[in-house]
Amino acid sequence: MKGIILAGGAGSRLYPVSRIYSKQLTLIYDKPLIYYPLSILMLSNIKDILIISNEETIPHYQKLFDNGSDFGMNIEYALQTAPNGIAESFIIGEKFIGDDDVTLILGDNIFYGNLDFIYRAMQKNDGATIFGYRVNDPERYGIVEFDDAGKAISIEEKPKEPKSNFAVPGLYVYDNEVVNISKNIKPSPRGELEITDVNNVYLQKGKLNVEKIGRGVAWLDTGTPESLLQASNFFGVIEDRQGLKVACIEEIALTKGFIDKKKFTEVLSKIPKSLYKEYLERILKESH
Ligand code: G1P
Repeated sequence: MKGIILAGGAGSRLYPVSRIYSKQLTLIYDKPLIYYPLSILMLSNIKDILIISNEETIPHYQKLFDNGSDFGMNIEYALQTAPNGIAESFIIGEKFIGDDDVTLILGDNIFYGNLDFIYRAMQKNDGATIFGYRVNDPERYGIVEFDDAGKAISIEEKPKEPKSNFAVPGLYVYDNEVVNISKNIKPSPRGELEITDVNNVYLQKGKLNVEKIGRGVAWLDTGTPESLLQASNFFGVIEDRQGLKVACIEEIALTKGFIDKKKFTEVLSKIPKSLYKEYLERILKESH
């Protein structure tokens, strides 16, 4: 399974900071936003990751992650020249995906809670697997309609009259067919290759599995200053209470066995004196 993080976009709702850097680099409590979706791919055991972004932002991601070897991963980068839609990721990433299945996560999507059922659903994917999460403002998302038996029967992108409150979060699991499907869909009226159109092709073929996410999981939005503050507060409270960091990619690399203690120590030696470093030193001491 390959992983793609789509982390472009103008982020204009965050103006004026959007003039100088992209939304996915903004700080969510104590680390850049992109760490959170990256950690989800790592926790699902994906080590081959392509980050798709724009020309100005890719060098920043390269500074953060380089080729991924510090985390026991292979991280590559690719350019999306214009915001042509989420489904363009599979066309841009065709060579990277090769013959594999692929999981796409949007660089501004944050998930928190017991996500084991998500990781299991990813492993048993046959066709496509997407998720449904209850939200208060369904007009802003891709929305799934379920029949009485709980089977998905339609998906609509940002419907004016939503048929349910179940939004599709930016975490999508596909077999290799997704590359061909993405090449064959047409841009929507807003000029984008819509991920909802890809999902509808799988739905029509009877190959779309939609898993409802329960209320114990948080799927957070990060599009506005207010939602960024909420997310920062949310993780600040949890990290402070537990003394454990969320989405700490060095820690995950160690605990998942992507890197050994020797490599972890080497990575640690390159980190400047900081609370983040102190945390990693404690993790090393406490690890067996
Ligand atoms: C995109 C998708 C939408 C999905 C959402 C999740 O919306 O088009 O189906 O529900 O991501 O974050 P956009 O970011 O284009 O508003």
